[in-house]
Formats: sequence, C-alpha cells, structure tokens
Amino acid sequence: MKTGLVTGAASGLGFEFSNLLAQDSFDLVLVDVDEPKLMAVKQKIQDTYQVKVYPIICDLKQPGCIDLIYEQIKDRNIDVLINNAGFGLYGFFSETAWELEESMIYMHILTMTHLTKLILKDMIKMKSGKILNVCSVAAFQPGPLMAVYYATKAYILSFSEALANEVKGTGVTVTVLCPGQTKTNFQKTTAKNSKEKLSRAGFLSPADPVKVALYGYNDMLSGYTKSVPGLINKFLVLVSRITPNRFSVPLIRKIQVQIRK
Ligand SMILES: NC(=O)c1ccc[n+]([C@@H]2O[C@H](COP(=O)([O-])OP(=O)(O)OC[C@H]3O[C@@H](n4cnc5c(N)ncnc54)[C@H](OP(=O)(O)O)[C@@H]3O)[C@@H](O)[C@H]2O)c1
Repeated sequence: MKTGLVTGAASGLGFEFSNLLAQDSFDLVLVDVDEPKLMAVKQKIQDTYQVKVYPIICDLKQPGCIDLIYEQIKDRNIDVLINNAGFGLYGFFSETAWELEESMIYMHILTMTHLTKLILKDMIKMKSGKILNVCSVAAFQPGPLMAVYYATKAYILSFSEALANEVKGTGVTVTVLCPGQTKTNFQKTTAKNSKEKLSRAGFLSPADPVKVALYGYNDMLSGYTKSVPGLINKFLVLVSRITPNRFSVPLIRKIQVQIRK
C-alpha cells in the first residue's frame, strides 16, 4: 500500500487532494491544526474508501513542528507529499499584523522547505516519489496589499522549479500547482486576518476546488513541473511573464483595491 501525506488536509484543496489519493488507494497521513475538522475528515474518508488514515494534529507555524511530524512518519515510506497548507493576509504592509506575517513566512517557506528536505531524501533513496507544492498565480509578480503572501508564493515557485530540475533522473518528480481564486475557506480566513472588510475580486468567479485539485493531482502524476489550472490563469501567467513589473504591479494594486468592500 502506498502512502500520501497532505498538509492542510482538513478543508479546501487539501481535503480534495486527500480524497483523490484515497480514491487511488493511498493510505493517508493528514496534517492540520484543526483537530475536530481533521478527525471528521479522517472518519469521512475511512467510511468511503478502504484506506488507513493517520491524522497528525500540528500547527505548522510552530518551530519544531516538522521534527514532530517526521518523528511520527519516519518508519513509513511516503510516496506522495502534498505541501498544501497556507493562508492569506490582506492590507498595507505598514498596517498588517506582524505575528501573522511571521507565521506565514514560517509556514509557507520554512515548514514547507524543511518537510520537503526530509521526505525528498527518503524518496531519492527509494528511487521514487512525487511532491506537489501548492503555490498560486500570485507567485508570478509582486502583489501590493498582499505583499508577503505574493512573496512567499514566489519563493515556493522558484524553489519548486529548481528542485524539479535537481531531481531529474532520481525517480522523484516535483510539481508546483498555481491556482487562481478558488472556492475554499481561503477568502474567509484572509478576511478574518485582515483589518478591512473584503469581498471577492469583482470580475472572476472562484474555481471549483474539486476541479483545481484534480488538475494539479493529474499533473503531479504525470510528473509535470508547473501546473496552472484554467485558461484565464494560464493567460494571466503568460501576461505577467511578458509584462514589465512597472506596468503589472500598479495593475495588481488596482485589482487588489477592488477586493475591499
Ligand atoms: N483558495 C484560493 O483562492 C487559493 C488560490 C491560490 C492558492 N491557494 C493556496 O491553496 C492552498 C490551500 O488553501 P485553500 O484554498 O484550500 O484554503 P483553506 O480552505 O483555508 O485550507 C487551508 C488548510 O490549511 C490549514 N492550515 C492553516 N494554517 C495551518 C497551520 N498553521 N497548521 C496546519 N494547518 C493549517 C487550514 O486549517 P484551518 O481551517 O484550521 O485554518 C485549512 O485546513 C494554500 O497554500 C493557498 O495559499 C488558494
């Protein structure tokens, strides 16, 4: 039996990835900070699929959390690692809460990098394994009013693409999924973390998390490096690749300002 590990598995995309792995008969190690929600997910998956689910309740913004997770999984082969946990924060950097930004940098960058290092070493020894890092279209340009979020996602994109190249020929692949706005709890959490009242960005309706997760999951199974679900997101990525930042950054600011109610 193969095993998949998903962070932020109790809701949104993480929950969908967990279902996809279970459908493919993977046993699951599911990590989340929310104990009741994670235990409900464990029950739901076990009731639906013939797989084992090992929940790990863990706050991924706490120092030492990765050692704690690795201690619990080190005797088990992890065949798929999905670094998915993440959250948003909106507002001018001079006004947002440092504690949240520190947590975001810790979770999106340090935790993700550390867990990847430990599990990648084991995967290389096994000569097989798949890693999927959940990033965002936000990774492709700086984002005023979500400056730290965009910057952490740029790190995830750069790190993942570099790693995908390093592991060529080892039997391991690294894929980076870059979704646009998706209908999960992400917007609610971002609004809760922010001082301002937020609506969703006016002109785009959020994508279905089931479809976004399936797109990224399939690209991970195919071993593609970059996965951008949806034609509009592909177009946005292309535009941000060819547009100088002096034009794109003011435009992103205009779009971000619209998110305010
Ligand atoms: N939804 C979008 O529009 C969108 C777009 C682009 C990229 N993304 C990325 O997609 C990923 C998944 O987000 P989502 O949209 O599925 O949002 P979500 O529904 O809020 O799911 C995030 C999950 O991560 C968990 N989590 C948050 N902080 C944690 C911590 N400190 N320790 C452990 N688990 C923690 C959350 O638990 P709680 O519920 O307890 O907080 C939640 O279960 C994120 O990396 C996000 O940046 C989302």
